[in-house]
Amino acid sequence: MRDRRRIRRTPTVIDTDPGVDDALALLLAWGSPELRVLALTVVAGNAALADTVRNAGRLVAVRRPLRPPRIVPGAASPLRRPLVTATHYHGEDGLGDVADWPAVAPPPASPSAAEMLVAFARIHAERLTLVALGPLTNVALAVREDAESMRRIGRVVVMGGAVDVPGNVTPDAEFNAHVDPDAAREVFDAGLRIDLVPLDATRQAAITRKRFMVVLGPRPHPREGPSGLLARRIAALTEQAFAREGPRGMHLHDPLAVGLAVDATLATWEPVRIAVGDGGETRRTPGPANCRVARVVDTDRFIDFFLERLCPASS
Ligand code: RIB
Ligand code: CA
Repeated sequence: MRDRRRIRRTPTVIDTDPGVDDALALLLAWGSPELRVLALTVVAGNAALADTVRNAGRLVAVRRPLRPPRIVPGAASPLRRPLVTATHYHGEDGLGDVADWPAVAPPPASPSAAEMLVAFARIHAERLTLVALGPLTNVALAVREDAESMRRIGRVVVMGGAVDVPGNVTPDAEFNAHVDPDAAREVFDAGLRIDLVPLDATRQAAITRKRFMVVLGPRPHPREGPSGLLARRIAALTEQAFAREGPRGMHLHDPLAVGLAVDATLATWEPVRIAVGDGGETRRTPGPANCRVARVVDTDRFIDFFLERLCPASS
């Protein structure tokens, strides 16, 4: 890894619904010195908001990043429709139903996620990267509050959508867009600098449990320090999700979005105009591009990048 002292750290906010793959994405972010993760704004999606907020706290408590991010609760439901969760995949608690997490205190309820997103946009503008890993409800509410400041954000990297491939919730819709299509439509219509990381790209980034477990070390873990405990916890919280995957293993949906926030050259990009359908369909439509879409992923380089940064070597 490059010398940390010379790396320019990008002010970064991650909007997230942890979520097993969100957890891996956050660990990747904290293992990437190129990102200065200022805050986690939390949204309902994979699980109810109370669970996703608690899970964000759990991940900070177990990973103990050098600069712990603020955890900011956001929307408990989509803009206009009832919440649909994915606990069948992520576990009833949203994080693999693993026991023995440290107790975490609930964060302050205000300011809201939307207010924090606008505040960071006003402070950092083009220097800021926003990575959105869940339904876009918080981002849409921030656009409603101050679209001009949100348009100044340097990069809005969004994991979501299915452009030229089938969806993963309906034949045409991906989960994040399906949960809150109204928010997705408002975000795509707002003129933000969106880098979309859809299923077209994330399905290229799959990892088998065998390869995944290699990086977490043998059992019992020889490194009994914090990283040994973290490695065991990562192995435990991903167990259920891997068990539900096919022979290709787990699709690293959210980790790829973080990887592309760190290094956009991990994929090729195509400017596209996306229209959002009522069911969360995200298909091409004529007219000027409103995002650029990740197309071909340098999969081997990304998987190495991900495994190298997932779990700190120092105990
Ligand atoms: O479709 C995959 C996306 O939906 C990921 O962000 C996953 O965490 C779920 O939120
Ligand atoms: Ca997610």
